[in-house]
Amino acid sequence: MNIAVFGTGYVGLVQGAVLADAGHHVICVDIDEDKIEGLKNGIVHIYEPGLESLVVAGYEQGQLHFTTNAQEAVENSDTLFIAVGTPPDDDGSADLQYVLKVAETIGCHMNGYRLVVNKSTVPVGTADKVNEQIKSVLRQRNTDFDFDVVSNPEFLKEGAAVNDCKRPDRIVIGTSSARARVKMRELYAPFNRNHDKMIYMSVRSAELTKYAANCMLATKISFMNEMANLAERLGADIEEIRHGIGSDSRIGYSFIYPGAGYGGSCFPKDVQALIRTANALDYPSRILQAVEAVNEHQKGHLLELIDRFYSNGGSANNLDGKTIAVWGLAFKPQTDDVREATSRVVLEGLWQRGARVRAFDPAAMQETQRIYGDREDLALCGTREEALKGVDALVICTEWKQFWSPDYNEMLTKIGDRVIFDGRNIYDPEKMRTLGFSYYGIGRGLSITGNEIQ
Ligand SMILES: NC(=O)c1ccc[n+]([C@@H]2O[C@H](COP(=O)([O-])OP(=O)(O)OC[C@H]3O[C@@H](n4cnc5c(N)ncnc54)[C@H](O)[C@@H]3O)[C@@H](O)[C@H]2O)c1
Repeated sequence: MNIAVFGTGYVGLVQGAVLADAGHHVICVDIDEDKIEGLKNGIVHIYEPGLESLVVAGYEQGQLHFTTNAQEAVENSDTLFIAVGTPPDDDGSADLQYVLKVAETIGCHMNGYRLVVNKSTVPVGTADKVNEQIKSVLRQRNTDFDFDVVSNPEFLKEGAAVNDCKRPDRIVIGTSSARARVKMRELYAPFNRNHDKMIYMSVRSAELTKYAANCMLATKISFMNEMANLAERLGADIEEIRHGIGSDSRIGYSFIYPGAGYGGSCFPKDVQALIRTANALDYPSRILQAVEAVNEHQKGHLLELIDRFYSNGGSANNLDGKTIAVWGLAFKPQTDDVREATSRVVLEGLWQRGARVRAFDPAAMQETQRIYGDREDLALCGTREEALKGVDALVICTEWKQFWSPDYNEMLTKIGDRVIFDGRNIYDPEKMRTLGFSYYGIGRGLSITGNEIQ
């Protein structure tokens, strides 16, 4: 099939490259000229395991093309994917300007039937708006080409996006058009061999399915963080509780890791957007409001632990003269994405308190540099060891595998105050204390009074 994908971000580029790899002819369109120029030269602007080789191979084999010329893409493709951003608006609702702009572009240039597939995460009713936008442009052109708008939400996980796209566990298709159903089945046939993964439903249900999925996952995280905070106060260990409840098959082990809050480009904005939708319906979502509030609190939890440790019975919030190492900046491992990452709350909080930061992340250094620029109180270091030079404490914000088995003796000599604040519970508290560290995880039954562990 001839496919155009609008948006070459985490969703569009991965989807485009995977569809090209499956034999489709794909044109990726973006308004960002630098991104498109880079892609033509084999430079992939995001870190996503396995993506670069797929992009380069697709381009070299002539299956995958990159352009800023939307007209060329619309005229030469029968299926048009929308995979542009839907960032939060001022009030937290999803900003649809990019999606509707693509719809307008499609209406301007289509010259026959088109299947329009929306992959962006959008509020219920957006397919109708896309439909109306295209129709209104066609009316202005005095033409009346036929088209279908399908909702096909994306469930990929950053860090595993290529694999998720190649082997999706479900393919949700929202449409009432028999013609669109047939075309979508044909499009996804290469990914649907082992067993039928296509789940057909109404457009509105498909749109809400995406929000329901992300909100359910965010709820699991916030629930566990609430339990972790209780465990901390009750002298229990949330990691033991995690095993205790995960072993119940009705609950399961997935997505019940306690930590320093969720971030990224999806959960925070999608929870907020559904809260706004519910408010607009005069049916405020008590659960989602709580999920968001717990997460906001949790993102500040590492700073709370740091304050309590350094308050020494005196003034908290003063880290003048302290240098803190931060391991992990991305919102999760295997990505360079720092949107809404907990690390940003930690960095900004440390700076507010007068501390200097030495930070390391295996993938997100460039992105962090782009956001914060050059500043005296931030040293972006090339390795995890370099980040520990001359520091007083270590904070772990992302559970990258390379942080799991460090050289503990080296850490003991380099970290002046021998204290670790672990936002992802990657070490064993007992072992760390035996080694001589003050160690604080999330919900691990330790409360801090001054410098003491009780
Ligand atoms: N990132 C994820 O893990 C993920 C997972 C599932 C769904 N989603 C959803 O998919 C959508 C895209 O997310 P993303 O993370 O890929 O976004 P992104 O910000 O990484 O990329 C969006 C791209 O769209 C481009 N763009 C904007 N307007 C355009 C236009 N008129 N024509 C062509 N390109 C245009 C931008 O330049 C940018 O490159 C969002 O709605 C998001 O919620 C994201």
